[in-house]
Amino acid sequence: MAAAGKKLAVLVALLALLVGPSAGLLGSGPGCSVFVGWPVPVILRSLICGILGQPYTPPIWRAEPTGAGLSVGYYNNPNNTNSYCPGAEAAVRKAVENAIYQQGRGIGAGLIRLFFHDAFVRGCDASVLLRSTALAGSATEMEGPPNKDSLRGFEVIDAAKEATKAACGGRNVVSCADILAFAARDASDILSGGRISFPVMAGRYDGRESFADETAQLPGPDSSLQELQMMFAAQGLSSADMVTLSGAHSIGSARCLFFTGRLSAMDPDYARRLNENCNGTGSPNNRVDQDPVTSDVLDNQYYKNIDKFVLFRSDAVLVSSPATKQQVDVNVANPSRWESDFAAAMVKMGNIGVKTARVPGQTEIRDVCWRVNA
Ligand code: HEM
Repeated sequence: MAAAGKKLAVLVALLALLVGPSAGLLGSGPGCSVFVGWPVPVILRSLICGILGQPYTPPIWRAEPTGAGLSVGYYNNPNNTNSYCPGAEAAVRKAVENAIYQQGRGIGAGLIRLFFHDAFVRGCDASVLLRSTALAGSATEMEGPPNKDSLRGFEVIDAAKEATKAACGGRNVVSCADILAFAARDASDILSGGRISFPVMAGRYDGRESFADETAQLPGPDSSLQELQMMFAAQGLSSADMVTLSGAHSIGSARCLFFTGRLSAMDPDYARRLNENCNGTGSPNNRVDQDPVTSDVLDNQYYKNIDKFVLFRSDAVLVSSPATKQQVDVNVANPSRWESDFAAAMVKMGNIGVKTARVPGQTEIRDVCWRVNA
């Protein structure tokens, strides 16, 4: 009887995986609590969770995020007496400029990725920045497999936070979640040479919880097209948003362990060069540029690199369906179209799961971005 129950659970999990949220099978609520790690494919996670009698679901299937409750120029609005601080956005911009000037353009890539990894886990609430939480004792998101030894830019956000306090007459009014959004926007602007520049809505509050196992909601470098589409859909983002945002892989770097297994699928000369940089696959943590052509510029070169000059399977699969391939081709042919799509998709990503009110014990404006207020 128990065995039959388990089989049924597996079946339900697989069905849910195949049909996705559109069929309403998954609903919302907590997902399988078993952490089986990243980049274990979603299909395997769903199987393991199913065998344990807990069908795998990402914790929440979100509707398309609207940004209700946020506004452009939030800190410039004198009517928001508690948050009025007209120098806030400029202070963040300066901190990002300083970081890029001192550390190089890669740190800008790190800030854009930090924003993405925050958005996909508990929404844009700066949970990715926490080193400990209200329910102290469990590892936080930054310890999760996609993030550990990988994310960078935390100290830039800390510096930006201090800079906003200085700009706001010593008051703590700018949330860490908003700082992440501003910083990602500023990095996009700088790394694209001013071509990707957009207003950011603000008014987010910071969360008070963060759990390492929830980073299983982030796609992995070996994800299939269907898994990528499903994981973006779980956040209320479309397949088109996914293809557009993947263009961020035209900047920054990646570790060898994520692509040396698929060198044979790449252009042979490029694969040889990568192999040398990875010391014949002996150095899994060596880093290489993600874009071998214009590595420091946020541009549409990524789409020209697909599929023989990209690192991950999750990049190459974007030309494996007619619809996504067509979008890749449009992005190759029309850089300014991709630039404006990218700006819009970043705004949409910044609307995921926002907390727009102060709820005692649940939301706050953190005084220090890496810890919850006492
Ligand atoms: C579509 C699914 C995605 C997958 C599977 C994925 C996976 C990865 C992986 C494995 C790395 C290298 C990490 C390391 O070596 O430690 C990486 C780097 C990066 N990703 Fe993604 N990513 C995805 C989407 C995105 C999105 C939506 C953005 C932002 C809009 C983004 C921005 C970046 C950036 C900028 C880097 C380089 C970071 C740095 O140099 O510090 N990625 N990604």
